[in-house]
Amino acid sequence: MTTTERTIVVHQHEPYNAEPTRTALAENIVTPVGVFYGRNHGTMPDIDPQEWRLRVDGLVDRPLELSLADLKNRFAHREVIATLQCAGNRRAGLMAVRDIPGQHPWGPGATSTARWGGVSLADVLAAAGLRADATDIAFAAPDVAPEASPPQTYGASITVAKATAGETMLVWEMNGEPLPVAHGGPVRVVVPGHIGARSVKWVERITAQDRPSDNFFQTSAYRLLPADTDLSRTRVGDGFPLTAVALNSDILRPDDHAVLPTGPTTVAGYAFAGDDRGIARVDVSIDGGRSWRQAELEAEISPWAWRFWHTSIDLPAGAVTITARAWDTTAALQPEHPESVWNPKGYINNAWPTITVIACDAVS
Ligand code: MTE
Repeated sequence: MTTTERTIVVHQHEPYNAEPTRTALAENIVTPVGVFYGRNHGTMPDIDPQEWRLRVDGLVDRPLELSLADLKNRFAHREVIATLQCAGNRRAGLMAVRDIPGQHPWGPGATSTARWGGVSLADVLAAAGLRADATDIAFAAPDVAPEASPPQTYGASITVAKATAGETMLVWEMNGEPLPVAHGGPVRVVVPGHIGARSVKWVERITAQDRPSDNFFQTSAYRLLPADTDLSRTRVGDGFPLTAVALNSDILRPDDHAVLPTGPTTVAGYAFAGDDRGIARVDVSIDGGRSWRQAELEAEISPWAWRFWHTSIDLPAGAVTITARAWDTTAALQPEHPESVWNPKGYINNAWPTITVIACDAVS
């Protein structure tokens, strides 16, 4: 692992896997493109936007082949501010409980928020004449994932209900700029509220079908397995597929292990819950959860984006552990301990986040 300019932590150069530090993530509620995390299972393809074509086929009355110009000219331009969160976000906290071999130790930064511009997938599926017997919409990309068994191109699927809800998009803009190759340019899928794995980059084929995708990343990876699973004996279809992002939060400021003066200090972070759930409240504790103070939620910038929050705490001298916990609008609360959510692939660590800081009296 290397850290560049203390902004990005690179877990792997090829394929490229990197996340912003807590401090970098905390700076902007809409993450700058250069700070946004990158999660890749294979080598990024190099696609000429002029040559790029999207095939829409399967259970549709009018199969389509669309260029980027067709997408721009035939469909209404839309924007959505949405948070992407990788299912492996905060995996390091699970690895501290028990090792998870072969997986990246993602910290707090496998999540970021952008303003995505493009067209609604619902509009494209309507133009193709989506048939009533379709239940799932599968996405296919050209990048080959060597870790898949057998090695195969990346793919995923979502339900027709999610694909035709207006928020699911085909995008070619990120924060008003052309979508960079690293984030799926020329065109990617963005599925707001679902785990990042379903937002397929470099999408080149969309297939309406009567079952989920049979791609490795739908049938074998990104599924939640019981804690006692023997990974050498798992079969295709074991566990359940991850869809909506589970209620989660993290502390982004101060940094973990920061040395600070005693007295008042600001604690800040994000909270996020996928699909139709919102954030109702965030609490902060400095006594291991015996007492809590309610944090202030910052304004909602989009129903599909994280909420930033902050509060002020009074730091006593010594090592202080700061804990946060979020509640969603269904009154669900994050689970307390990472031990209770540990799973053999290290997905969805949404246990209460904690950081430890050292507070010292100022020396005059
Ligand atoms: N799409 C393709 N084609 N290949 C990939 O490896 N990774 C997925 C998803 N889409 C992936 C992909 C995963 S696991 C995540 S979390 C998000 O892309 C990350 O998007 P980002 O790199 O723009 O942050």
